[in-house]
Amino acid sequence: MEQDKVIAVMGSPGSGKTTAALKIALTLAAAKKNVIVVFCDPFTPVIPIVLPADINHDTSLGSLMTAPALTQAAILNACVPTEKSEYISFLGYQVGESLMMYPQITREKAVEFFVLLRYLADYIIIDCTATFEADPASIVAIELADRVLRLGTANLKGVSYYLTHSPMLADSRFRKDTHQNVIGNLKTGQDWESVSQQYGGADYILPYVPELEQQYDELALLTPLTQPESAGYTAGIEKLLGMQSGKSKVKPAPSAAADTAGVKRQEKPKGKPKGKPAFRLPFAKNRGEF
Ligand SMILES: Nc1ncnc2c1ncn2[C@@H]1O[C@H](COP(=O)(O)OP(=O)(O)OP(=O)(O)O)[C@@H](O)[C@H]1O
Ligand SMILES: [Mg+2]
Repeated sequence: MEQDKVIAVMGSPGSGKTTAALKIALTLAAAKKNVIVVFCDPFTPVIPIVLPADINHDTSLGSLMTAPALTQAAILNACVPTEKSEYISFLGYQVGESLMMYPQITREKAVEFFVLLRYLADYIIIDCTATFEADPASIVAIELADRVLRLGTANLKGVSYYLTHSPMLADSRFRKDTHQNVIGNLKTGQDWESVSQQYGGADYILPYVPELEQQYDELALLTPLTQPESAGYTAGIEKLLGMQSGKSKVKPAPSAAADTAGVKRQEKPKGKPKGKPAFRLPFAKNRGEF
């Protein structure tokens, strides 16, 4: 559905936001949906954690969001495709950057960015910075997303983060009705029922599975989980996407076809259109100039 197209993932440090964002993207990609994942965190750039070091990644959210002119073509050019999935592309910061290297990212630019981005893929998944108050892009993402998944761990750290941010997020601009609580990284023995009361209820549960830690360490998060004990995590992701278990099927797709004519993954036209600036299609299958 259209209202599910842009999903922001926010929550306490280490609650599993990046992991969940990637698995959501992977699940949507398995259903042949184009997905752009935006890693907002300027403090610990994520792309190098996800893609092998030899990937040529010379673009940055920082330069994109502070450029004098922000266009859909510029956003597509900044996308980093991955051979791991022909339907997934990334936007994020580079290692070695700092926000001090850029003019301040303004709220207006961040709004412009997310408004333009919305039309460039079937789904946009936004991995927000844990200290989102320090990152204008994450704040705006939470305001503009169709759904906000609030991840928290089943311990006092997660609860503390949740309760600390709840008064701020109660402001009407954050549209609380779009928020859903997710208990992430739930470990055996943790009392999620009493913890979920602290969260005011839990909409979804993502259990701890050892295979995820292994994938994280081996830069293999874009590989589907295969071990039987990982089934609970996969089921949690499918459930929050409204998918039937075990089937590559998603809710009626917010097809980008109508509003991304010419920029969505599609048959490559022969030759370059005259008079138009060239830009790269952001998905591996169709990489090349358009
Ligand atoms: N369900 C899970 N099962 C096992 N390990 C998990 C799970 N979720 C996350 N982890 C592990 O927890 C650690 C933190 O995960 P991740 O980086 O996704 O969290 P985050 O919320 O994005 O953190 P940050 O706030 O630093 O951005 C990683 O080592 C990851 O492998
Ligand atoms: Mg993260």
